[in-house]
Amino acid sequence: MAERGHWGSKVGFILAASGSAVGLGNIWKFPYITGVNGGGAFVLIYLVCIALVGLPVMTAEILLGRATQTSPVGAFRKLSSSRSGWVAFGWLGVAGSFVILSYYSIVAGWALHYSYLSLTGQIVGLGPDGVGPAFDALFASNGLNLFWHFVFMALTVGVVIGGVSKGLERWARILMPALFVLMLILLVNSFTLDGFSRALDFVFGFHTEQLTAAGVLEALGHAFFTLSIGMGAMLTYGSYLHKKDDIMSAAITISVLDTVIALTASMVLFPIIFTYGMEPGAGPGLVFVSVPIAMSQMAGGTFVSFAFFALLVFAALSSSISMLEVITSYMIDEWKWLRSRATLVSAGIIAVIGIPSALSGGTRLFGDSFADVFGRNWFDTFDYLASNWILPLGGLGIALFTAWRVDDAIRHREFLEGTNLALFYKGWLFLLKYVVPVAISLVFLRAIGII
Ligand code: PHE
Repeated sequence: MAERGHWGSKVGFILAASGSAVGLGNIWKFPYITGVNGGGAFVLIYLVCIALVGLPVMTAEILLGRATQTSPVGAFRKLSSSRSGWVAFGWLGVAGSFVILSYYSIVAGWALHYSYLSLTGQIVGLGPDGVGPAFDALFASNGLNLFWHFVFMALTVGVVIGGVSKGLERWARILMPALFVLMLILLVNSFTLDGFSRALDFVFGFHTEQLTAAGVLEALGHAFFTLSIGMGAMLTYGSYLHKKDDIMSAAITISVLDTVIALTASMVLFPIIFTYGMEPGAGPGLVFVSVPIAMSQMAGGTFVSFAFFALLVFAALSSSISMLEVITSYMIDEWKWLRSRATLVSAGIIAVIGIPSALSGGTRLFGDSFADVFGRNWFDTFDYLASNWILPLGGLGIALFTAWRVDDAIRHREFLEGTNLALFYKGWLFLLKYVVPVAISLVFLRAIGII
């Protein structure tokens, strides 16, 4: 047990778990998929998914972790029986971590590259016509993608190897609030742009005609992705939690914070997009083309753009470490490996799995035939499979397991321990028993085309 750390404090857990939740999902992915899916209706479905599906599943995950004080595979095993099939959901989580981190690291690498460009004064001069080609050049460069991917994986290893409470908790305390303050400054800047009201209507106007089954699946998947649930990251973080802490209120705090940051990011980006006549559905490059334009008009743009992309790297890092921690804690708990060995081996494998994603924009490792089969490049395929399928499936497993398999006495005691929100127990259980499984199943069946 000597290897199992604990959070330094309750605030430490909230910060680390929010650090896991708030990441590229909020600032890079949410605005871009909102753009691709046409705005308002997608955002509304996403909010519903966060409240009715994401929040109960997050609560369940933290609870399973704290109750068992072990990593996902062990948690399922401990609360069922050793031979039960539920353990498969633990495995799914470990597999999901490999897949997600392998391409997440590529995007974090883009943020690293943009921090570097900002620092050397190459961002501010780009101007509206230069931003698109600059991003395209990066996306197409095999060398740059590989280089920054490896750098980012090395950074992730650097933090995870240090263990649970020390380095990360301390940094998160300073850098998370800094990110938020910077976003507010950028929001004020966007507020002054002509495109602000159009952006407001785009993000919050409810235009139902744009809703598609694929969009609903994506909104559901993104709710899982952005809250870091469905693959055991919150479960693992919960396993380092003390019994006296309040699970339900922590889950609410994290979800609200995460949602506020995602919506803020959208209201930073879309006014820029509309003001400069750019395409809201531009895809994964959205944040990398819009923020630099705003910077070239802003006083102190060089510094602000460096601060923005550096904080984006930090937000990505506080998320990537939670993915690596899922695998690392599995190896430590189940195989009794040393933390250093577990971290290095798992990160090494992920660095390799990420290579085809890093090459997605340039010459493709597997040629175009692969892209033709799936209709997407490797990078997009990983993202699609992981967030739209693996995470909701994992969430379904966690909900069914917690609601139908775990002994009520254990579950109830664990929920009550440390909480002021005891009266939410029944409502939470109801959502977990019926609403979550039905919602996920319906979305799946619709996406496959069965209903
Ligand atoms: N929630 C993180 C983000 O929004 C991504 C993540 C997914 C982290 C799954 C951990 C587990 O960027």
